[in-house]
Amino acid sequence: MTRKRIVVGISGASGAAYARRVIELLVAADVEVHLVVSPLGQRLLHDELGMEGVDLAALAGGRADHGITLHHYRDVGAAIASGSFRHDGMVVVPCSNNSLAAIANGLSDNLLHRAASVALKERLPLVLAHRETPLSLVEIRNMEQVTLAGAIVAPTNPGYYMLPRSIEELVDFIAGRLLDLLRVPHELHTRWTQSPANFRAERDDAKSE
Ligand SMILES: Cc1cc2nc3c(=O)[nH]c(=O)nc-3n(C[C@H](O)[C@H](O)[C@H](O)COP(=O)(O)O)c2cc1C
Repeated sequence: MTRKRIVVGISGASGAAYARRVIELLVAADVEVHLVVSPLGQRLLHDELGMEGVDLAALAGGRADHGITLHHYRDVGAAIASGSFRHDGMVVVPCSNNSLAAIANGLSDNLLHRAASVALKERLPLVLAHRETPLSLVEIRNMEQVTLAGAIVAPTNPGYYMLPRSIEELVDFIAGRLLDLLRVPHELHTRWTQSPANFRAERDDAKSE
């Protein structure tokens, strides 16, 4: 089986922890990760995770052997800017209103937006983990437009039916859904099991194993 290849874009919306967890899980699943981070995305990595620059090992859960390829945001000549670059999907996590608008309207003057626009034209999976609330008609229309073009809008709003006890469990809820959408297997305990009591018992069993 050939190795999966996923493009990850980090834009300047709140929720850097989602990006870190998704990347950590992709690396753990032996996925080849191609990463592009917007300047505001980099600021969020700093503000919310205390990261200096784009620390690839830290994004990969402390693994020095992460194998992540970091592409420069301004390099619209990078491999992932081309439709000839084959991959298994792209996720923008978190996805700002600004990046949603650019992607929905075909703007591609930076590598994050260009790679997303290429995913749409090549009919490759594109998942936008949008974060903002409330929404104006502008965002709602952009969501409609990008959905009609083939993207999946996956807002970063976790369910509470799994009775989360920590921020990490809330982050995992979203990270697990995003990996499901990218068809990347994971063993996070994020699947509903018909009642909160069942869910809690199974989760606690899994954690004590
Ligand atoms: C601390 C901070 C938090 C932000 N959070 C959000 C957010 O949750 N959602 C959003 O749409 N924009 C948010 N923004 C604004 C975006 O970063 C801004 O619109 C920027 O132009 C996005 O550019 P990008 O899409 O190229 O990253 C935030 C900005 C800062 C500084």
